Amino acid sequence: MTDTNAESVNRLVAAGLDRREARWLVEEFGTETSTLSAAAERRLAGEPLQYVIGHWPFRSLDLDVDARVLIPRPETEELVTHALGELARGDRTTPLILDVGCGSGAIGLALADELLARGVRASVVALDVSLDALDVAKANARKHSLHAVSFVQSHWFDGLDPSLRGRIDLIVANPPYVGAEEFTTLDPVLRYEPLGALVAEDERGIAGFRDVAHVIATSSAWLNDDGALVLEHGEHQGDAALVLAKESGFADVEDRADVAGRSRVLVARRR
Ligand SMILES: C[S@@+](CC[C@H](N)C(=O)[O-])C[C@H]1O[C@@H](n2cnc3c(N)ncnc32)[C@H](O)[C@@H]1O
Repeated sequence: MTDTNAESVNRLVAAGLDRREARWLVEEFGTETSTLSAAAERRLAGEPLQYVIGHWPFRSLDLDVDARVLIPRPETEELVTHALGELARGDRTTPLILDVGCGSGAIGLALADELLARGVRASVVALDVSLDALDVAKANARKHSLHAVSFVQSHWFDGLDPSLRGRIDLIVANPPYVGAEEFTTLDPVLRYEPLGALVAEDERGIAGFRDVAHVIATSSAWLNDDGALVLEHGEHQGDAALVLAKESGFADVEDRADVAGRSRVLVARRR
């Protein structure tokens, strides 16, 4: 680090920023005082670092992120590993993948990119109800030249081309799953993210379970006979997700824990 950089970092630390974050901001914005101060002020006011910087790594990609989309989380990177595992089970050379509630495009774009690197030409359909989120996801697809990803504005599966029914190899989803009450107890930094990306209504007496339940119950009809759903859910929703998946036409269901041992991902296979 040059003397000027070190000086700028020290100035930001003196203003109240964490040293690691101060380094990040200097790396991103350089040492020009007004630009750096504006970025530091946003962070000091509580805005997430990822939005201030404007991009964030997710798997193989550097995704542009802003307040229109959820900041992609490390646990969702694990979902991508489970999804790749499902695709590797079958002999799928040109899989059709559906990313339900794509946000920044994180899951669908990472899958398209990593599969391409393995010589697999996947087609990905990414849907979201939010036009703002779709704009960000489309820009991320362009940024990474991922041309085999198409985007649809849709309330869950309602707006999908009906000809896709029964044809999809893999559905990936990270629906909103935080209960409204729990949300009020969480880190206030989450209030910068779109509420509709985080909070869901309750269902079956389980806080925040409605969207997860809807995606599980609806997915089966869109998958082909060898298809699978890989879905992230809240840590207290795993048992209910397994029961619902069995009720909804999935023969082989499994709940996977994250690195911290918390139940987080449903893997449900049609057979
Ligand atoms: C938890 S975020 C996940 C975003 C992204 N897939 C990720 O993992 O970073 C949930 C996403 O679902 C979208 N969503 C919420 N309600 C929806 C609905 N009714 N239909 C489609 N998408 C919806 C939100 O706009 C948001 O982008």
